[in-house]
Amino acid sequence: MVAGGATESNHAGYTGSGFVNYDNAPGGYVEFTVTAAAAGQATLGFRYANGTTANRPVDVSVNGVVRAGGVPFPGTGAWSTWRTATVTAPLVAGVNRVRATATTTAGGPNLDRLDVTVGTPATARPA
Ligand code: GCU
Repeated sequence: MVAGGATESNHAGYTGSGFVNYDNAPGGYVEFTVTAAAAGQATLGFRYANGTTANRPVDVSVNGVVRAGGVPFPGTGAWSTWRTATVTAPLVAGVNRVRATATTTAGGPNLDRLDVTVGTPATARPA
């Protein structure tokens, strides 16, 4: 769900069919529905582009609770250069609403997708 933004495809490098261009205003948001098999801490990776040199801060909430305020989304060098900003937040088992809300008059970055990893990535070694 997108409010205060539009889906566009005029900058290369996005995945899927496009990305969200937030309005240049506070309060616009992109909300993702994430279904988790079990409750647990998750890594939320937001793939984005910001062709300016100023941060485009966003509050990240899960099920209405802000879990990461003012995530900066710094400039990536070009609107066609995409990077991933990660935050951690707890998910409940079942459906979660992950929302990224712009907090400044510049609006958010251009947002391509959300990658979710539930649980702590671990490395196991023999012996
Ligand atoms: C440019 C760019 C958009 C971007 C916008 C912005 O217009 O083409 O993709 O969203 O700047 O500053 O937010």
